[in-house]
This record gives sequence, structure tokens and C-alpha cells, in this order.
Amino acid sequence: MKAVKKFLKQQFHRALLKVFRRLGNRNNYYLIRGNIEQANRYTNPILNKPESWFVDFGECWFYSLDTVRYGTLELLSREIYEHEIEGSVAEVGVFQGIFASAINNYFPDRKLYLFDTFEGFDERDVQIDRQMGYGTQSYHDFSNTTIDLVLSRMSHQEKAIVKKGWFPESASGCEDEKFCFVSLDADLYQPIYAGLCWFYPKLAHGGYIMVNDYNIDNYPGAKKAVREFAKNNSISYIALPDMGGSVVIGKPLL
Ligand SMILES: C[S@@+](CC[C@H](N)C(=O)[O-])C[C@H]1O[C@@H](n2cnc3c(N)ncnc32)[C@H](O)[C@@H]1O
Repeated sequence: MKAVKKFLKQQFHRALLKVFRRLGNRNNYYLIRGNIEQANRYTNPILNKPESWFVDFGECWFYSLDTVRYGTLELLSREIYEHEIEGSVAEVGVFQGIFASAINNYFPDRKLYLFDTFEGFDERDVQIDRQMGYGTQSYHDFSNTTIDLVLSRMSHQEKAIVKKGWFPESASGCEDEKFCFVSLDADLYQPIYAGLCWFYPKLAHGGYIMVNDYNIDNYPGAKKAVREFAKNNSISYIALPDMGGSVVIGKPLL
């Protein structure tokens, strides 16, 4: 029964991808195409070879419907390559590595830093959210992951650098690094605010930070962190209509 269910799910997913692909190819919809494959006609200007890829959504196929999030990632990567912006890429809040594997695909020649406890939320961060009056009892349990599972999803595994531990402590030793793209997807106030403070000064001009969960009621700390950081540093951001209610922060080109 389980095997039949899995098979049907896979078939449904495949059929869905086929429809998206058709639409994407016919109408040049980057948003639709973004999470399906890096457009096979697109030639990475730096690597000078076509990169075709497919995110392994595995059991989490539902995420593949988030065309806005993945399409935005594709378009930001194009901006970065076309403007020849240097730097590594990173994600804080990796969980099972699904979005991280897409980052790895779109930035195949960049070091990819993967920051996570790989054990779920840290009680210190949950406590801070609680003190802010947020209903932390609805928070998800993200302990169901392993570093091996995450690495197995990476098609350019040699570029992945795992930083296991509590962020920002786990970032020590990387202070001299420059970044062109960062995903902050740690849900809670503390790691997101700390992530913005830590990465923004290290972000290359022409680089981007994507923060997930800004417009998600479950995790109000994300919005608070972004708004506070933006106000304190006079920066602006753009809200996306993706499933995770993300925002994008850019650092102006010089
Ligand atoms: C929503 S999940 C990430 C999902 C993933 N980005 C994706 O799209 O597939 C949030 C992750 O943030 C991690 N996290 C939260 N606070 C953290 C902290 N202070 N340090 C390290 N990891 C943290 C959790 O362990 C969890 O795996």
C-alpha cells in the first residue's frame, strides 16, 4: 500500500513537472521554469556550459509548487553571474537541504556554506521568541535530518561546507569570506537578525539576501528581524508572493 502511494505521488509529481515545463518553454516564464530546471537554453556565462538540473524534492514534492521562490533564485543567480559578482553562497537554516540543493545548482562554481544545528531549533532562540510573546507551541520540529542526507542532495557536493552548530557561533572562522547570495531560512527572530547583521557587511555589491517567512504568521520573529535590521541600517527590501512569504534584500552595485 505504501509503495503504491509513493508510486502515485511520483507519477503525479512527474505529470505536474511536465505541465510546468511545457508552459515554461512555450511562454518563457522564468517563474514557472525556475524550480523545474535551469533553462536548458541558458548558458552560464562564467562556466560557459549549459547547466541542466533538477531539484530532488523527494518526499517534499509539495515544495516544487513554489515556483516564485525557485524562479526568483534562478533570476537572482543570473543577475549575479551577468554582473560578474564574486563571492560564496550560503544558507542559514538548511533542514533537509532542499533549497540548499537548488542554490548549489544555480551557483555550481561557488563555495556553499550550510549553517544548521541539524537538530532543529535551539532552545535559546525559542526562548527569545517566547519572550516576545509569540505562540511557540506551533513551531515545527526540524530535527528529522542528517548531514549525509543534505550532502546527498548536492549535485556539486565538493562545493558544500557544512557548519554544524548554533548560528551565529557556528560562523566563527568564516569572518573573511565574501558572499554574493545568502538564504536566511531559520524561522526565528534571533538567527535571522544575527544572520542579517553577520552577512550584510560581507555581502558583495550586487549580491542578494533572501529571507524566508517574513509574511508567514507562524513565525512572526522573521518579520520583526527584517524590519528592525532594515530600519537600523536604512536598507530596503522587496516582499515576494512565494509560499514562504520571503523578502529579498539587495546591496546596490558600485
Ligand atoms: C524551515 S527549516 C529550513 C528549510 C530549508 N531552508 C528548506 O527550504 O529546505 C529551518 C532550519 O533552521 C535551523 N535553525 C534555526 N535556528 C538556528 C540557529 N540558531 N542555528 C542553526 N540553525 C538554526 C533549524 O535547525 C531548521 O533546520
